[in-house]
Amino acid sequence: MDSKNLKNQIRTDRFDFDEEALIKAAKKIMKEAYAPYSKVKVGAAILSSKGKIHVGCNIENASYGLTVCAERVAVGCAVSHGEREFKAIAIANSTDKIITPCGACRQVLSEFSKGLKILLVSAGGEIVRTTLAQLLPDPFSL
Ligand code: THU
Repeated sequence: MDSKNLKNQIRTDRFDFDEEALIKAAKKIMKEAYAPYSKVKVGAAILSSKGKIHVGCNIENASYGLTVCAERVAVGCAVSHGEREFKAIAIANSTDKIITPCGACRQVLSEFSKGLKILLVSAGGEIVRTTLAQLLPDPFSL
C-alpha cells in the first residue's frame, strides 16, 4: 500500500515511547519469518504496559490458510509471559510498501489493548503512525 492512500494515518508526530527500540525489535524478529510462499517477511514487536517488548514473526504453511501473522505470534508470546496490557506495536515488513494488520489481527489486538498505538514500517524505512481505534473502530466484544 502507498502510505498516502492509508486513510487512517492519523498523526505524523512521534509517539510518547521509545519508537526506535520497538522498531528495532520488529525488524530483528522479521529476519526469523518463515515465509517461503508469499516471500513477505513480517516482524511485530509489542510493548507491554510494564515496559517489556515481546516479538513475533509470520509463520506460513503449505496449507496456506494455516499461516499465522506476526502480530498474533507476538500477542501469543506476550500473553504466554503473563502480559495482557499493551501500549504499542511496531510492525515491520520486508517489502517497500506499508502493510496494515489484517482484520483477524486487529480483532485479536483489540482483546487486550483498546488504546494501542501502531507503528507501520516498510523495508525502505517509511514509518506510518496510527492506532487500533482508527483501524478497528467497532471491535466485536462480549
Ligand atoms: N502478514 C502478517 O504477518 N501480518 C500482517 O499484518 C499482514 C500479513 C503475513 C501473512 C503472510 O505470511 C504474509 O504476510 C503475506 O500475506
